[in-house]
Parts: sequence; structure tokens; C-alpha cells
Amino acid sequence: MASFDEMDVDTIWMNGDFVDWEDAQVHVLSHALHYGSGVFEGVRAYDTDNGPAIFRWEEHLDRLYESCKPYDLDIPFDREELTEATVELLDRQDLASGYIRPIAYYGYDSLGVSPGDCPTDVTIAAWPWGAYLGEDALENGVEVMVSSWRKHASSQIPTNAKTTGLYVNSMLAGEEARRNGFVEAIVLNKEGNVAEGPGENLFLVRDGELYTPGLSESILDGITRDTVISLAEERGYTVHDNSSISRGELNTADELFFTGSAAEVTPIRQVDNVEIGNGGRGPITEELQSAFFDLVEAGDREEWFHYV
Ligand SMILES: Cc1ncc(COP(=O)(O)O)c(C=O)c1O
Repeated sequence: MASFDEMDVDTIWMNGDFVDWEDAQVHVLSHALHYGSGVFEGVRAYDTDNGPAIFRWEEHLDRLYESCKPYDLDIPFDREELTEATVELLDRQDLASGYIRPIAYYGYDSLGVSPGDCPTDVTIAAWPWGAYLGEDALENGVEVMVSSWRKHASSQIPTNAKTTGLYVNSMLAGEEARRNGFVEAIVLNKEGNVAEGPGENLFLVRDGELYTPGLSESILDGITRDTVISLAEERGYTVHDNSSISRGELNTADELFFTGSAAEVTPIRQVDNVEIGNGGRGPITEELQSAFFDLVEAGDREEWFHYV
């Protein structure tokens, strides 16, 4: 992952103002730093044939506002204001494509688990970003490890809210995998079924049909997951989007792949010591991956693109 110091970026939108990159600071006693009380989005903009466009921006905004609900976070900006800010941020930094990170969090006022009168601070940053798990991963797939860490149950914490605090679980799983020589992790839920990756949803292909864990399996309701389900169904595939997938079924899958705004569509070629399918990118994965990249290159499905 490239350091920000190596990037040509200089502006961040912070609580209504555009500020210099180095001035986008928070107080060390901000609530979110201590208690993980923030919600965020990870969004991509693509330089499409129809010009620069933010992919599925409306759905990301929906999820951002919905993630606030259990925490009583109240974003003091409406959708239009966040949209205008993001479009101008991309423009000010000459970013035709890249990654966009809106975040809303309890800021600085007093400190205690109760956020009391801490304000809801909101910032948006954007920067250039290539393939999350590497260019090679998109073509040849990644080796993943089933983590020894389990995902939170949704009775413990709302797993369908994209909350900053949740990501220590993702960090533990991902770093455990990398320490063991793998690229990424697969995380099981409390019941021991397959949930998702640390920052990706998971699809399994068997006998020409697709399976992905349902929303009650402790997953994030991924927007790329939804995109891929649509693309697959349009191509005539049956998609079981409310599946329970056991750990053992990973080993016998014909194909496996991750989806995510960062990871896009990334094949999985090995789980622990087991090679999946032919040990590379499977044919259905390749077809859906191509469909995905064709879509974001063309930018011609208007309802899914916010043109900048
Ligand atoms: C835990 C987790 N699951 C799944 C996803 C994929 O979601 P999306 O496709 O909306 O980026 C992400 C990324 O945001 C994630 O962090």
C-alpha cells in the first residue's frame, strides 16, 4: 500500500471546509479514537468512457447514513452537500479515478464511553489507488487463510453498519494471514460458517451456480456483492444470495472469489493448503470479473454512476 507521502494529494474536506492535507487534524481526546465510534465508506471513482464517475455513490451514501443509526450519529450535512463536497474534492485534486473515504465520527468534547455532547465530525478524503490486493491478484488469484479469529455476531455488534471499531477484527484476521504467508484471510462467523474477508464479501461457484453468505451470516451488505449478483443474474447464472457456507465447502468449491470496492473482483486460488479448482482464476470468476471491469470502464449504466 503506497504511503500518502508518495501521492500527489493536497486537500481534505473537513466539516464543511476544504483544508490543506497536513491541516486535517483531530484532537487526541476525540471520542472515536478511544472507542471506535465512527462509520465510514470506501468508494471508487473510475475514469470511464463517459468521463470520471463515482461508482454507486448513492448506495454508499445510503449505507453511510444507515450505519449512523445504531450509534445515534447525526451527520450535519445532507446527501447533496456530501456529494458536492466529494465532486469538488476530486476536481481540486485532479483525480479522474481513485478511492474516496467519507467518515463520520464522534469528535472532541468530553471523554467517557457515552459520547455525551461530542459533535459528529465528518471528513472526506480521496486519493489515487490501484488494485487492493495487487495487479497479479486480479489475474492469478490470492492465497487465503481461514482465520482463527471469528467475526462478531450481529447480536454483539451490528455487522451491517460499517463501523470503524469493527475493523480491529479485520486487522487481526488479515495480519494473522499475512504473518503466515497468505495474502488475505477468510473469517468465519460465530457459528463457524463462512462470513467474508476482512474487507471483502465472498462468492463460491459450484456446478455453474453462485453462492454467497446471506445477510444474517455476519457480513457487510456489500455494494460490489450486489453489483456482481446483478451482473451474474443478467448473464443467466443462478445466484444463491442467502447461503450458509460451511468451512468444508470452501475446499470443494469449483471457484471462489472476493468482491469489494477496494478488492473489486479478486479470484481466490488457494485456501489454507487446498488449491481451489484449477488453482488459478476460474472461468465464471473471469467472466464476472471482465463484466465488472467492462462496466466501470464504460460507465454507461447511468443509475450506477455519478458523473463528476
Ligand atoms: C468487512 C467488509 N465486507 C465486505 C466489504 C465489501 O463491501 P463493498 O463492496 O460495499 O465495498 C467491505 C468493504 O467495504 C468490508 O469492509
